[in-house]
Amino acid sequence: MTPKLILTGFMATGKSAVGSLVARRLSWRFIDSDAEIVARARKPIAVIFAELGESRFRAIERETIAALADDDRRCPRSGQPLPAVISTGGGVLTDEQNCAALRRIGVIICLSARPEVIAARVSRSAAKRPKLTEGDRPLEERIRELMTERAAAYARADITVDTSDLAPDLVADRVIDAFFARGPWRCKPSA
Ligand code: S3P
Repeated sequence: MTPKLILTGFMATGKSAVGSLVARRLSWRFIDSDAEIVARARKPIAVIFAELGESRFRAIERETIAALADDDRRCPRSGQPLPAVISTGGGVLTDEQNCAALRRIGVIICLSARPEVIAARVSRSAAKRPKLTEGDRPLEERIRELMTERAAAYARADITVDTSDLAPDLVADRVIDAFFARGPWRCKPSA
């Protein structure tokens, strides 16, 4: 069975952009867990946080990840599970249940970037990211704090790729190489 390629990591490390590039290159399905959450809740993420609170958001996130992990759609011709790239929100690995569900179905690749790079990338869109505006702190300070808090969670990933100095195209190359270098399926003839 081909495992899913799961992209996670801190906000603004390029998970969605790189995920859709990787999926296009491999001709695999692309799934964005934040987009699934927005579709389930029928509200943007910042509105879910503001109206329902973070704990409700995390509960919907957990349900979404569990549903994605249980989705065993198969190719109607070969009967093989359909491969997919799944990009997740930046807080997904902080939950052990999410971590176990994702590990069961695939290889977890964490995208990282230096705090100052993240700060520059989100400077005009921080308002859409409730975890960054929490506490009304200077942006880069808040990013460093949250990164430190989450270091152990991100260390649960199988592979980490630093995106600080790379264009999405090059990150996609590294992600694909790392994924196929990792498992025994790399030698399997296609079905
Ligand atoms: C979050 C990251 C966001 C989104 C939500 C919470 C986090 O996703 O899931 O705002 O806790 O890091 P991105 O990492 O795609 O911005």
